[in-house]
Amino acid sequence: MCGIVGYIGDKPVADILLNGLSQLEYRGYDSAGVAVQTGTKINVYKAEGKLENLSSVLMQHKGEFAQSTLGIGHIRWATHGAPNVINAHPHTCNCGNLVIVHNGIIENYKELKEELEKNGAKFKSQTDTEAVAHLIAYQYEKTKDLTEAVRIATSKVDGAYALCIMHNDEKDKLIATKRNAPLLVGVGENEYFVASDVPAIIPYTKRAMYLNDNQIVTLTRTNMTLIDKDGNELPQKVEVLPWEPVALSKMGYKHFMLKEIHEQPDIIRNILVGKLRSAETPIELDEVKLNKDTLKNLNRIQIIACGTSLHAAMIGKYIIEDFCGIAVDVEASSEYIYRKTVTDEHTLVIGVSQSGETADTLTAIKQAKAKGSHILIITNRPDSAMAREADSLIPVNAGIEVSVAATKSYIAQLVSFYLLAFYMAEIKNSMNSAELQALKSEMMLVPQKIEQILSHKETIQKCAQHYANTKDFIYVARGINYPTALEGALKLKEISYINATGYPAGELKHGPIAMLDDSMPVLSILMKGSVYEKILSNSEEAKARNARMIALTNSKDEKLKDLFEFIIEVPEIQEYLSPLIAMIPLQLIAYYIAEYLGKDVDQPRNLAKSVTVE
Ligand code: F6R
Repeated sequence: MCGIVGYIGDKPVADILLNGLSQLEYRGYDSAGVAVQTGTKINVYKAEGKLENLSSVLMQHKGEFAQSTLGIGHIRWATHGAPNVINAHPHTCNCGNLVIVHNGIIENYKELKEELEKNGAKFKSQTDTEAVAHLIAYQYEKTKDLTEAVRIATSKVDGAYALCIMHNDEKDKLIATKRNAPLLVGVGENEYFVASDVPAIIPYTKRAMYLNDNQIVTLTRTNMTLIDKDGNELPQKVEVLPWEPVALSKMGYKHFMLKEIHEQPDIIRNILVGKLRSAETPIELDEVKLNKDTLKNLNRIQIIACGTSLHAAMIGKYIIEDFCGIAVDVEASSEYIYRKTVTDEHTLVIGVSQSGETADTLTAIKQAKAKGSHILIITNRPDSAMAREADSLIPVNAGIEVSVAATKSYIAQLVSFYLLAFYMAEIKNSMNSAELQALKSEMMLVPQKIEQILSHKETIQKCAQHYANTKDFIYVARGINYPTALEGALKLKEISYINATGYPAGELKHGPIAMLDDSMPVLSILMKGSVYEKILSNSEEAKARNARMIALTNSKDEKLKDLFEFIIEVPEIQEYLSPLIAMIPLQLIAYYIAEYLGKDVDQPRNLAKSVTVE
């Protein structure tokens, strides 16, 4: 999290920094700041809260930096120190001549701080970053060479960082470096851009160089030099980014989240093109680079992911095990990386991530790769760090997801899992072919069915308003929709801050049932199929404890009317595909409750879209 930008060139820098930061707001919005070279000194401007607050500060001071063409900027998701102006970046050394912006976490900052204070450093903030500012400044006093000072200082730093640095004594220079955090340099005509992510530079140039860990780039207006951690000069790999500048627009919707929910039918259609041609034609998935014999004999898969992507992974497990008979383990990346996992060259490891940058998942797949596993990445960002680690890469092509709460990327990940499971089942011949064909055929109808739900949203909106003032919410399901219950609860808590939990319906009576009374809404995901009757009985048990029962169902069963105070009906669908349908009303319930409560739907408090710290 946190986003950094930098610019050196011949254009007014403030607008470039602000535009860049606005493209990175998905990485955090606790505070923002910029530092600009004014010719005599470096001026720093900061504001707490969203970027618009920094814009206002800059408007008030615009006369002070109108000629500036060199600067750095930052958008913060707070880790060390409260989200206030003092802790906002850029951070400076004692005299203010050296300024830095940082994304990541400096793990040994306390030790560094202690040492630096002995040498006279005066710390102003509670951040880990400030230690690096003082450390580089200290080295600069000795070397009088900014690149060398950065090289020596970063060799003493433990943790993750993307840094952009400037110094008032080197007025034609911008330095950037990184370790375990994303960073790229945009190359223009007599100008260079530094950013945590492509959208910040793509309006200006499509030529860019991704930095590798421990590389240090020194930029002047006319030249770029790249060195490794030992100071050896490296060749520069400038590539043309496969991106067009996109104007991110809500297209008339009140929020990006609502727009992204409505994009889902077309996203599914796009994913299926060229891969699922007809029920009878085998799935084409050239993205999977494992040879067919290896796939046939594969008996172990591990899927690692976080948050919403983890819920997609849980459904992936369900269908791969059922369709292909391969044992699948699913684990949160943050757990996987801190234990001895049984992963080896015979394991297929699947990493799932919207952003392709989530630090825990990235570390997990690097660990698995080091053990010789084939790495398959399912991501919405084929240009991401995870994609660069992949042996096989399935891009989900959901388009840029602006809303912090993931919706369309989740559905796109699910569809990718279905295609993968169908593909492997065909290679292994592990499934009854009539059943498989029926599923493929019905998959092609899913976009239409989602459109039906979207065109009758009023009941869902009414339901959302009815329960908007509840303090807690329980979602229950069984089987393939248990992860749907978890994802429905996650969506609601993320954007409405209501305490929502998903349970396997059969587990209610093992504890959670104690919480039920006439104030507790319980939403049962009751899709027709193998566990329908079981969930119905579990719903009866909850009703007997006076819970406020809601059904999300594709059943027309009359007896539901006695049991549930609210029924949300969705189209008929084969049970295996039902998570694709059941999730849509749950996204909408979360959306409408948050909107009704007046919450910041697209940028909920405390969250960031790209979680680049472990
Ligand atoms: C929830 C959400 C998060 C992410 C999680 C992983 O709406 O967006 O839970 O799913 O932070 O992020 P990615 O998928 O980018 O690895």
